[in-house]
Amino acid sequence: MTDEKKLNEINCRRTFAIISHPDAGKTTITEKVLLLGKQIQKAGTVKGKKSGQHAKSDWMEMEKERGISVTTSVMQFPYRDALVNLLDTPGHEDFSEDTYRTLTAVDSCLMVIDGAKGVEDRTIKLMEVTRLRDTPIITFMNKLDRDIRDPLELLDEVERILNIMCAPITWPIGSGKNFKGVYHLKDDQIILYKSGQGHKIQDIDVIDGLNNPELDKRIGSYADDLREEIELVRGASNEFDHELFMAGELTPVYFGTALGNFGVDHMLDGLVDWAPKPLPRETDQGRQVVASEPEFSGFVFKIQANMDPRHRDRIAFMRIVSGKYEKGMKMRQVRINKDVRIADALTFLAGDREHVDEAWPGDIIGLHNHGTIQIGDTFTGGESFKFSGIPNFAPEMFRRIRLKDPLKQKQLLKGLVQLSEEGAVQVFRPLSNNDLIVGAVGVLQFDVVVHRLRSEYNVDAIYENINVATARWVTCDSERKLDEFRLKAESNLALDGGDNLAYIAPTMVNLNLAIERYPEIEFHHTREH
Ligand code: G4P
Repeated sequence: MTDEKKLNEINCRRTFAIISHPDAGKTTITEKVLLLGKQIQKAGTVKGKKSGQHAKSDWMEMEKERGISVTTSVMQFPYRDALVNLLDTPGHEDFSEDTYRTLTAVDSCLMVIDGAKGVEDRTIKLMEVTRLRDTPIITFMNKLDRDIRDPLELLDEVERILNIMCAPITWPIGSGKNFKGVYHLKDDQIILYKSGQGHKIQDIDVIDGLNNPELDKRIGSYADDLREEIELVRGASNEFDHELFMAGELTPVYFGTALGNFGVDHMLDGLVDWAPKPLPRETDQGRQVVASEPEFSGFVFKIQANMDPRHRDRIAFMRIVSGKYEKGMKMRQVRINKDVRIADALTFLAGDREHVDEAWPGDIIGLHNHGTIQIGDTFTGGESFKFSGIPNFAPEMFRRIRLKDPLKQKQLLKGLVQLSEEGAVQVFRPLSNNDLIVGAVGVLQFDVVVHRLRSEYNVDAIYENINVATARWVTCDSERKLDEFRLKAESNLALDGGDNLAYIAPTMVNLNLAIERYPEIEFHHTREH
């Protein structure tokens, strides 16, 4: 393959995730994106929670029962001359750790905002995470088929609360019952909206030019209002600037309705035209690995079990950073310093899995995991660096987990350790007793764990309350000091699923005292895999 072909393969990739507050329309947009990417024939397969049908990207039983997205799924599809990788993230905030790690694997994000509600909590939190890497953001103001807030006010709110400049690319003409379509500020075109077309790719109805008399014929008095408003908008808002966008300082904004399948295509066009090609990633050796480097490299950001009940295995999701995956190739798994031959990596098409013969930077591949792969693992063509920045967060809720049948202790431990490797939950084993403590970032994780222990490990477990307020991973430069600490603080120490030492504090006061008392020990809120 020529160098030019290789570069084309890399440069056509766009890898992104959708961030939003629950109910803003992420699932609906995902469905429309798949429709536009010709991955589903007819929208409606990814229907709402109440109708009893479920998103193609919602796999697990739990999700179906609860109508929430627990898992991260990966969808790849061609759009125009690009190849798009969309990483779905769990919407419920109890699964935010998963979401954070998924955001390390993308190069840009689509932020979906409910036009009637504006900026909501979860969006604020997620934007904070994207800020850690200055990820470029594209914004979609959704639900224009309902009465929304004043669009200029919405932009102002985004700028103020999320501290990012807005550059409207399209501008809405009316909303709710009077939603007529959008004006494309860059193309000088009016794209008219027709309701009731949400389930299919729409025939596009375009009028060229804001001053085209055809516009007056079609939308009557709205035309003059629009002309006035656009003048105002051009004066009051930022122009799109690609450099600022790439730096995460400015977001292009689109308006539309995901349910009505209107405007999602404009946003996808923006993504293909402007969103970054596969970006470099930092290593622990202080260098960046860029996509065009010939040697293969990638990192695992997620492990997931039983996505498909017919395949009862665990899949490690790897983001390729450089080089090329070829079926049957050898890779070095850096953490355990072992070369493995990978013959059966998978790509994901919203739950349908296919074997791939090759994959490129920006792509996500799935590796079958028989317990040797952990979140954060780096794979290379032979070098020994590690990619950095894939976090584990200290849990904020704790319960003691106990078996109904005490003979199954071994299965319970195995299940918990595996689920913690996946990042589904964290498990702590105190040094001083035989308790098993489960730590979670959100309360729903507890339910997921019990459910999965039952269905995947055949273990019936129940929780008991335990007096733990927080946990911190501890490290120390001096082996001797750490041993001393281990002795003195033993009753507060535990090992996590990966055998890392952690301090388990019954109260925040206790933690603060320990931090004061042992200045040579470092207490960490996050642990890098
Ligand atoms: P999420 O994944 O971000 O949580 O949101 P989701 O797409 O599930 O959408 C949440 C609700 O908002 C759904 O309604 C969905 O139909 C609706 N919705 C999404 N986009 C639009 C839009 O552009 N206009 C309007 N009017 N509604 C929209 P639901 O009542 O919760 O479920 P359903 O049974 O109606 O599907």
